[in-house]
Amino acid sequence: SFLDVEEDPVTVLVTGAAGQIGYALVPMIARGEMLGTNQPVILHLLDIEPAAEALNAVKMELIDSAFPLLKGVVATTNVVEACTDVDIAIMAQAAALEQHASSNCKVLLVANPANTNALILKEFAPSIPEDNITCLTRLDHNRALGQISERLNVHVNDVKNVIIWGNHSSTQYPDVNHATVSTDKGTKSVRELVNNDQWLNTEFVTTVQQRGAAIIKSRKSSSAFSAASSACDHIRDWVLGTPKGTWVSMGVYSDGSYGVQPGLIYSFPVTCEKGEWSIVQGLKIDEFSRAKMDATAEELIEEKALAYSCLN
Ligand code: LMR
Repeated sequence: SFLDVEEDPVTVLVTGAAGQIGYALVPMIARGEMLGTNQPVILHLLDIEPAAEALNAVKMELIDSAFPLLKGVVATTNVVEACTDVDIAIMAQAAALEQHASSNCKVLLVANPANTNALILKEFAPSIPEDNITCLTRLDHNRALGQISERLNVHVNDVKNVIIWGNHSSTQYPDVNHATVSTDKGTKSVRELVNNDQWLNTEFVTTVQQRGAAIIKSRKSSSAFSAASSACDHIRDWVLGTPKGTWVSMGVYSDGSYGVQPGLIYSFPVTCEKGEWSIVQGLKIDEFSRAKMDATAEELIEEKALAYSCLN
């Protein structure tokens, strides 16, 4: 049919759904920005008991928006009800997901410390395939694209293949060594166009690393719709595939690629196809990058040790 909305709905869980990111995220999902404008969705919204009323208001607003793709809303403070049969989980609740989610549920951790939270979730949800557990660094990736776009006065859509390596924290390494810009005269490297390695190696890096803190300082609360929007980008590219010739950054389970200790959730450049990500291989890493990639890995190793010491 012209409006092809015949597909089975996908059930998406958003935890902390009455919070700032959740409030920005659920209408995006209901509009098709996460899974495509032909894909019906059922939303499961979870929050804690003190937020139950606000959560119910989110459900009321979803109903009031008359979203054509929205086939159902469950707003609940019951973790089991929230996790039952979910296909995609944003933010997440390990033990209940383990028992009640669909067996191939894809999980995106947003709450900080996002990488290490993803690792802990993996511990408590061992039946979910490890490749299905990811954390959000697409926000940082998009921030890096935005900074290059502003600097060069080009459209953000013409900039691609930046990389966020490592932790979603101030030790992350935004790398432009493989990034390009599409121009009238063909594809150019970002380094060549910016023509200022000093800026790229210092101010650019720290601006992206500190962007979350800068938003908090100005807004007096964390970035919300940019986080929600990049969460949609993350899931959409994961499920529907990355555009040809383009990679994105995702926090994924390290297999040892680029000398990153296996068993960390580390942000890598990835391409996605048919619902599976794979780490882009064979990129040249210079000494400057190596040191920064190792420093952020070190921080993740420390976070992991701390997390496990608390669990034991
Ligand atoms: C962000 O990157 O905007 C957030 O992770 C910052 C924060 O600490 O909430």
